[in-house]
Amino acid sequence: MKFSVASIAFVQMVEARNSLSKTPPMGWMSWEIFRCSVNCARNPDGCISETLYKSQADAMAANGWLDAGYNSVHMDDCWEQKSPSRDPVTNKLVGDPDRFPSGMKALGDYYHSKGIQYALYTAESDTTCGGYPGSKNNEKLDALTFAEWGVDYMKVDGCGGPEYYDSGYEAMGIALEESGRPIEYSCSWPAYINGGNETVQQATFIKMINYGCNGWRNWHDIQCNWRSLGSIIDHWGMYGASLQPFAGPGHWHDMDMLLIGSLSGGHDGGHVGERCVSLVEEQTQMAIWAISASPLIMGNDMRHVAKDSMEILLNEHAIAVSQDPLGQMGIRLTGDTSAQIWARKMENGDVAVVLYNRDDAAAGAADIAVQFDITGINLYTDVDVFDIWGKQSAGTFTKEYTAKAVPSHGTAFLRLSAAQAVIV
Ligand code: GLA
Repeated sequence: MKFSVASIAFVQMVEARNSLSKTPPMGWMSWEIFRCSVNCARNPDGCISETLYKSQADAMAANGWLDAGYNSVHMDDCWEQKSPSRDPVTNKLVGDPDRFPSGMKALGDYYHSKGIQYALYTAESDTTCGGYPGSKNNEKLDALTFAEWGVDYMKVDGCGGPEYYDSGYEAMGIALEESGRPIEYSCSWPAYINGGNETVQQATFIKMINYGCNGWRNWHDIQCNWRSLGSIIDHWGMYGASLQPFAGPGHWHDMDMLLIGSLSGGHDGGHVGERCVSLVEEQTQMAIWAISASPLIMGNDMRHVAKDSMEILLNEHAIAVSQDPLGQMGIRLTGDTSAQIWARKMENGDVAVVLYNRDDAAAGAADIAVQFDITGINLYTDVDVFDIWGKQSAGTFTKEYTAKAVPSHGTAFLRLSAAQAVIV
């Protein structure tokens, strides 16, 4: 089947319930590297503690991330006191007192003093995936507690029986809405049902948007290797047409964290091993996440990001594709071939294109051509081709453009502007 950007109807099936997340969220999250490291005596620089998050906030404020749009620090699992699981008097959740001695509100105040949003984690289950207290049946109280602490974004995981998710995610949506504070709501619900078959998730997507979810995780957790990253790209490639109508301003499909600048073996300290994926593969992740309108949540250690990785993350042309105000999710236009074309329509009529060489190294680099009509641009119009990785014009072309020697697992990332953009 041949798709074009325009042949897949862009229908916002359901209006977002709130005015948050108009473009995909951008920030940093602790889970990819720091996981559930809670032994601060052994791992003082990398344990889940206020020291870690304050130092990440310092790095975010100092190194140009805020100016580029990365503006939230996301704490993931394992921040809570386990026993007792709630304050015996107030029944509120409590941060681990040894690791968060200043309290959870003080951490939020610290972020806010630097212009950074406070993102936190809970789950619609008795316990979180790491075995810490969850919010099941305590949505109202927990949402009020998060609001008191100044939280701006909640990732709400689901680590128990899926039979609770329908009422649980609805209850949390209402509770956050009534908390008196605008709090972005990230729901993990679809990741846990239907075995990843996105063709049967429509009803869930509609419910989630109605419940106020501003985004949701659809599929497996990303891991620090190419096999994991490549499989997520394949999943979005395969299901693009099923996913696209449900993404838009206020509600996004979340492909999970960026591995860009992340090193393996980093759980104890965060900056020790090899790159999770090669630099070329890091570019590919940035390009596909931007085309797919996925949140851009870094999973590195912001205190130690290599300069070349930083250049990918801070590439303003890639970020402009991700944050395009039209909010139309892009999709893979070709089948599951070794040379793939992905495209996303931009608000000003331009089309962003990723030419992705899916082959393994043995097959070597490939020339990949894109016929402009597949992207919805009139075949007979002059098209300016801007090379996003090269940060310069590649020239003006008619009918087609060929990217030369795209490396294995690599991408050419382009922005096409037609003199007279005619979307067919
Ligand atoms: C699940 C989520 C991850 C992370 C862990 C924490 O696996 O998908 O993103 O939050 O739980 O335990």
